[in-house]
Amino acid sequence: MGWWCAQKNVTLRLLNIYYKVGKKKIKNNWTLIPGLPPTEMDRRILEFQERGKLCPSRDLIKTKEQIEGIRRAGKLNTAVLDAVAGKIREGMTTLEIDKIVYDYTVAHGGIPAPLNYEGYPKSCCTSINEVVCHGIPKEEDVLQEGDIVNVDCTTILDGYYADASRMFVIGKTDPRWQRLVDVAWECLKVGEKVCGKPYVFVGDLGNAIAKHAHANGYSVVRDLCGHGVGCKFHEDPEVEHYGHKGTGMLLVPGMTFTIEPMINMGTWRVFVDEDDPYGWEVISEDELPSAQWEHTYVMTENGVEVISS
Ligand code: MF3
Ligand code: CO
Ligand code: CO
Repeated sequence: MGWWCAQKNVTLRLLNIYYKVGKKKIKNNWTLIPGLPPTEMDRRILEFQERGKLCPSRDLIKTKEQIEGIRRAGKLNTAVLDAVAGKIREGMTTLEIDKIVYDYTVAHGGIPAPLNYEGYPKSCCTSINEVVCHGIPKEEDVLQEGDIVNVDCTTILDGYYADASRMFVIGKTDPRWQRLVDVAWECLKVGEKVCGKPYVFVGDLGNAIAKHAHANGYSVVRDLCGHGVGCKFHEDPEVEHYGHKGTGMLLVPGMTFTIEPMINMGTWRVFVDEDDPYGWEVISEDELPSAQWEHTYVMTENGVEVISS
């Protein structure tokens, strides 16, 4: 290799370092369809992209047919959670909740997405008290008066996915725990409100959610986030529930995604128990309680609509 080439390599390496240290290089995901004139939507998105903003790729924009399919999956997923809501009570095991989810889903022509997903052994997640998410239903977990439990269901119907979770309070709980459950709900609704119009950023909703959580003395889990959903279980974008305005992906009409803030009473740090045979359950580091609500949304010209709750 001659001197010129070697010199060029050095320059390129320096350029790369500059890019990483200086401004984060953002991929130009949005491209025009060759041979077709740019639409109004193309123009709006490209304007953001040229300003260095993270834009979706075209495959994240669902067609009308896909959105109809995702809506049907969403209806069934909401009905599954309603079935759980009608039966959940003190003394029930989380394995019984799993059976309600499996039976109801299958009886209505759906498939519970968690079952066998990357080695996950059950049909839903049941996360009690200090369990932040991905709690595995089990025979030994008996619901007790005062427990706060998140039931997270994802349904596949005709190949389309919808994902939602709710908190259930067993009997009456400590008023401080009830407040955590209520503020977690408010955080979801605060995020939803930011998405009341298209062409907002994931960082806009994350920023608003974190502000609301912090104002109430709570923290936001950072290691897990919401996500695109619809044609697969987990798609782009990553929907972080904290961050700076104007960062993260631009949300445009036709995108389907979840918002699912995990709000902790204490630290935002979490861990996975080393003795957990599956390695799924996520627990708050200080073992103080955690609460979460999740909806699936579609972004429209007029802001988000709820697809599953
Ligand atoms: N439903 C969860 C989410 O909101 C994911 C659970 S993955 C599983 O993204 F395998 F644990 F089910
Ligand atoms: Co989700
Ligand atoms: Co979920």
